[in-house]
Amino acid sequence: MSNLITLPGLIDCHVHFREPGFEHKATMKSEAASARAGGVLTACEMPNTSPPCVTVNALRQKIAIADTITDCDIHFFFGITEASHMEEFQTAWNDEGLRRRLCGVKLYLDHSTGNQKVDGGIVEDIFKRCSELGAPLVAHCEDAEINAEAAKMFAKQTDVSLHSLMRPSASEATAIEYAINLAKKHGTPFHIAHLSTAQGIDLVRTAKAEGVTVTCEVAPHHLFLSIHDYDRLGPLGKMNPPLRPLDDVEALWKGIEDGTVDCIATDHAPHTLEEKTSPKNPLDAPSGVPGVETMLPLLLTKLSPDQIKMLCYENPNRIFSLNAPSEPRITIDLDEEWVIHARDLHSKCDWTPYEGMTVRGRVVTIT
Ligand code: DOR
Ligand code: ZN
Repeated sequence: MSNLITLPGLIDCHVHFREPGFEHKATMKSEAASARAGGVLTACEMPNTSPPCVTVNALRQKIAIADTITDCDIHFFFGITEASHMEEFQTAWNDEGLRRRLCGVKLYLDHSTGNQKVDGGIVEDIFKRCSELGAPLVAHCEDAEINAEAAKMFAKQTDVSLHSLMRPSASEATAIEYAINLAKKHGTPFHIAHLSTAQGIDLVRTAKAEGVTVTCEVAPHHLFLSIHDYDRLGPLGKMNPPLRPLDDVEALWKGIEDGTVDCIATDHAPHTLEEKTSPKNPLDAPSGVPGVETMLPLLLTKLSPDQIKMLCYENPNRIFSLNAPSEPRITIDLDEEWVIHARDLHSKCDWTPYEGMTVRGRVVTIT
């Protein structure tokens, strides 16, 4: 028996495909194949590549590679760490050809993989300029000072679960509050990346009720994993923002139910297994987990196809003006249950934090 449904090709509005610069971790070709196998036919890629995507030239270089990829339509975020990058972004945004492949600006309010923390002195100007340009501004919301203080408290420790205390909930909440205030003041189309805490959800819910132009995404790893998975995952469970307690996980699901959460996006961040597991101190392992191929089957265990269509197609398509086709392009057999094994997945990194989990729904055809 089969129980087939169709959906438009899904959109993952937050991925790291690593190219150029980190092809040993992943390439656009390898990760586009992984995306496609998971029903994701449009992806928005982040700027922490090498060279970083903070100049028109670097953007052109990425677009040239993406033009050779057929499995997935790849769009790009533009990073800003210093004032000159804003000028570069403006040039790119005003170029019709480049704009079609540009999703907006990505700001890191604290360092993460790639060390792209923005100069704090220019953040407000970026909110103002993005508002004037009508360009979406996405932020990784963690507070650098709070994280630095917390990290000091756990210096020289080696228990990887401490990562969640070294980047505490209060850090995310403080950064979200700060950024929402700037969006409110300047009317910026502002989107919060990988929101992971109950406080964060509450802040967005309140801001939306006040009419602030804010949207947010949550990542599957913050929905399906928690601090209780560190024992099983070790350094494979390390990402930024980190895994959270179950109260936070529950609040994210509530945020999905009541429409506070606009998108589910994977923050697909492949690192090699060697990079993740070889550091003597697991707290030195790089942060990030793959997820683009497992998002849909995980979500089908909890959400209806209509909810998934809203969170992984309609909302990201509108927020980032992606013009992704609305016709049904993927057929899914809802009755098929299967067990996730990294050996069956296509990402170059060859591991998954969801190893052994039973999921639902197999993508059977893609047109
Ligand atoms: O866990 C993460 N990994 N968080 C980020 O902010 C960056 C990402 C990466 O690029 O590895
Ligand atoms: Zn990311």
